[in-house]
Amino acid sequence: MPADLVCFEPSCRARYAITDALYNCTRCGGLLEVNYTGPRHEPEALKALWRERRTSNAPLEQSGVWRYREIIPFLDSYERVVSLREGNTPLLDAPRAAAYASLDRLTFKHQGFNPTGSFKDNGMTCGVAQALRLGMRRVACVSTGNTSASMAAYASAAGLDPVIFLPHGNISYGKLAQALEYGARTLQVEANFDQILALVRVLAERLGIYLLNSVNPFRIEGQKTIMVEMLDQRDWRVPDWVVLPGGNLGNTSAFGKGLRELRDAGLIPKLPRLAVIQAEGSAPFYELARAGVGSALQAVRDPETLATAIRIGDPVSWPKALHEVRCSNGVVEKVPEQEIADAKAQIGLCGIGCEPASAATLAGIRKLRASGVIRADEDIVAVLTGNVLKDPDYIYRYHTGQLSTPSGARIAPNFGNQPVVAPNDPDRIAELLA
Ligand code: F0G
Repeated sequence: MPADLVCFEPSCRARYAITDALYNCTRCGGLLEVNYTGPRHEPEALKALWRERRTSNAPLEQSGVWRYREIIPFLDSYERVVSLREGNTPLLDAPRAAAYASLDRLTFKHQGFNPTGSFKDNGMTCGVAQALRLGMRRVACVSTGNTSASMAAYASAAGLDPVIFLPHGNISYGKLAQALEYGARTLQVEANFDQILALVRVLAERLGIYLLNSVNPFRIEGQKTIMVEMLDQRDWRVPDWVVLPGGNLGNTSAFGKGLRELRDAGLIPKLPRLAVIQAEGSAPFYELARAGVGSALQAVRDPETLATAIRIGDPVSWPKALHEVRCSNGVVEKVPEQEIADAKAQIGLCGIGCEPASAATLAGIRKLRASGVIRADEDIVAVLTGNVLKDPDYIYRYHTGQLSTPSGARIAPNFGNQPVVAPNDPDRIAELLA
């Protein structure tokens, strides 16, 4: 299908070839998005085709991204696509979390079940496919963890050379371990995420490295399929709300674009409302949404939150994300550290678990429920973006009462679960367990 890159700014809309290695409009600096102009598919036939592919053993069909390739038709050949069987993540009912947020029911779409443990894999398989198509040899990203693990895995699997930039001292060791194991050249820079992103953009240009942060429009294409798969799993019943954490806002942009395209193609009759949740110490998008029409994002210079994945003060995709929140009649909310930590423990008690940024969803739902924005009987899908094993140190500290906020305030272990030291004595242990 014919595809091109189009400037997202309504007053510009400059067009570029799909094979231009660009991240921003060269005319106005706006974000770029992939735009398709080909013929439409018959919606019911497409749904049937996608369902049928789930029974196939072909690698492309086993991917929860490429199975839906009619919604992301930017490649002209699928021969060199590298898939680690990304996507295919479950929808999980969570009655206990629902009760915690005073809802009748709640479903999690758990992206932490991806091959490298986060939703980034959905986007990365597409970004790496585009890198191969462009003949790039090196790829780079800045990351607080998940993007680096994902890019390292996909780039190495594709025979590319991954270079990752991490904020020194502010990443998860589990994620750094993955990046090292997957063979990425790893640079720990003494700056925060926003500063390093600016640096990497300069370096990418100078050294001819392909940038795979979510400013890359092909990452966004892949992440759209999270919504497609969710709807396929629900037999195309549209939820009232989709709730997700907001950091650099790539996912918000991707979900909104994907949902609009599904609606415009006749696969769903309406859009769910998007609820984007930020951490209080890192909430520029929340402030922007409150500021009203015509405002520009005011960056938070020193963003702080223990949820490192959303510790971003100057999110690049805000114009797209704002458009998607508005189109879906959505909302943006912010939540404090204590509530993120408690919500995370509640998700754990469902036997599900997730990383801190993901738990912002449940904390946000609870707050939106309390203020009456969300009703108890509404149908809600919350996206858990990353795996429970990302920040084990955070978990241990929470349960043992040793966790504190970046400003030093103690986080109470409201749902704490202390490990107990026991003597090697059956009688004493039986007493302990009585
Ligand atoms: N949740 C998780 C688990 C993440 O890793 C990220 C981003 C987000 C939410 C925020 O998503 O940027 O699309 O709004 N992680 C980046 C990284 C910063 O480097 O892995 P967004």
